[in-house]
Amino acid sequence: MCGIIGVAGAHDALGVLLGGLERLEYRGYDSAGVALVAPDGVLWRRRSAERATSLVHLEAALPDAPAGSTSGIGHTRWATHGAPTVANAHPHLDCTGHLALVHNGIIENHRALMAELVERGHAFTSETDSEVLVHLVEEARAAGADLAEALRTILDRVHGDFAVAVVAADQPDLLVAARRTSPLVFGHGAGVAVLASDVAAVLGTAEALHALGDDEVLALRPGRFSVTDLAGRPVAPRPLEVRYGLEAARKGGFDDFMSKEMAEQPHAVADTLLGRLDPATGATDLEELALGRDQLAGVERVVFVACGSSYHASLVGRQAVEAWAHLPAEAEVASEFRYRDAVVGPEVLVVAVSQSGESADTLHALREARRRGARAITVTNVVDSLMAREADGVLYTRAGPEIGVASTKCHLAQLAILEVLALHLARARDALSPATAGELAGALAGVPAAIEQALGRAAQVAAVADRFGGAEHFYFLGRRAGLPLAMEGALKLKELAYVRAEAYPAGEMKHGPIALIEPGSVVVAMATRGPLWDKVAANIAEMRARGATIVAVCDDGDEETAAIADAVLEVPPLPELLVPLAAAVPLQRFAYEVARRRGHDVDRPRNLAKVVTVE
Ligand code: G6P
Repeated sequence: MCGIIGVAGAHDALGVLLGGLERLEYRGYDSAGVALVAPDGVLWRRRSAERATSLVHLEAALPDAPAGSTSGIGHTRWATHGAPTVANAHPHLDCTGHLALVHNGIIENHRALMAELVERGHAFTSETDSEVLVHLVEEARAAGADLAEALRTILDRVHGDFAVAVVAADQPDLLVAARRTSPLVFGHGAGVAVLASDVAAVLGTAEALHALGDDEVLALRPGRFSVTDLAGRPVAPRPLEVRYGLEAARKGGFDDFMSKEMAEQPHAVADTLLGRLDPATGATDLEELALGRDQLAGVERVVFVACGSSYHASLVGRQAVEAWAHLPAEAEVASEFRYRDAVVGPEVLVVAVSQSGESADTLHALREARRRGARAITVTNVVDSLMAREADGVLYTRAGPEIGVASTKCHLAQLAILEVLALHLARARDALSPATAGELAGALAGVPAAIEQALGRAAQVAAVADRFGGAEHFYFLGRRAGLPLAMEGALKLKELAYVRAEAYPAGEMKHGPIALIEPGSVVVAMATRGPLWDKVAANIAEMRARGATIVAVCDDGDEETAAIADAVLEVPPLPELLVPLAAAVPLQRFAYEVARRRGHDVDRPRNLAKVVTVE
């Protein structure tokens, strides 16, 4: 969703801003803008709201940018209050045109603040909630405060979530920023100071990064900075550990980020497992959880909360916890959990799963669970993200930045860490024999190689996409771990190819949806070998008898399954609950191939955002 970049002290401030905005694009946006502090002490601003191509249009509108500007701010906006128009795009200016401000988040009391400001003579030029901030800063400055002080004094009156950055025409090389809930990082590079809402935006520009805390105000200049709390007391900023470099946020020779990120999946899973699992003994090391063996042994129930692909990973995690740790476990869509009267207390371990660590639905579910007394941990890919900070413990997936909107490598890394967590719980409760734990750990250690093999079958997937990719309806069926896998396959096809794809428990089809099956229906069945293979085979027969075309996801060389299907997507055999780790690969690829054949942008599907910070 919205993104912020700011720079001070650069030879080419505009270049840094545009580079940063480009790396914020993946979050999803519908308009964009920049403001530069020109050497003549005038603010120069350009914005664009050409749908989905704002940056291109923005760049086209920039030849008249003032030369020699060393500082400025930029923003990508995902509309909430007010349509995606140029007037609503950030940066917003105050009445004097001397201040420019960008904002992520939502100002809940903006109507009341706006009414007050209008009464006092301020003129508003947008329908956004954000614009009140720049007028409030304007008033505080007029009353004699410096820029940082001005921002500090207004924040008490602002309700909601925000990351905000301001520049003033008369103070080149000064960036002032603050945050509450929405993330903001900052740092210094060679002679420049930068800030951003997302680490990816400043990779390669800043060497050491810090995270701004809630209700902290930053005054940032080239070579120095100060951070204070709202009372003006100095605060030591928290250094941020970034495990990857600029290359990780570039396509690196691939056609698109999705291809690159699918190819990175063996590494993402191997890195996520590194040091956490001993394949010889089945021992697990999740020290970072900050929950000791005694605390884990006292857990009576595990509840996973998540959205989208993270929810599908959670459904597999739930099955692993039940099967291996013999603990009651549930997985629920976070937006539903939050508003249900969920019965959770100190005996419950809530696991919030979120690639970004920022999804509003999951964040609020996590807060609600903690409010009700549950112990909560976060599984996320983003170090120091909101959910990482707010939970009692955190488990990081180590997939590196994921730019493609539809999750691929992060989904597999989540599956891997959730299975390690299930093993860890099992061991804390002595629920598995050392031999079984060792076998599972050995199989998990072999998963990166299995993913590599699955990636090697791209030609088989492309051939299936050629034959069946034109269908208008798909049904993805599975049982047990095959069901979340089917759900993930269907979601990918919806997200990327904009095709109706229904995921259903294979055994449940006969209770209704089978009425929809007719010649031309394509059924993608999860039919790898496991205790339920016979049942799935029977369900396939039911679909075939009604004219459906069957694409079976099956084990390598499984001729019996191939004989009951029209086409197969083969994957290396794995123990039942590990199957989604490899079998998600051909399903991702299938959605990718179908989307490409239909001419869609696989990295930025329509209507979707990578990071969804609204409910
Ligand atoms: C968005 C994305 C999905 C993602 C979901 C959850 O809807 O488009 O790909 O699975 O958010 O995101 P999270 O960051 O919480 O895992």
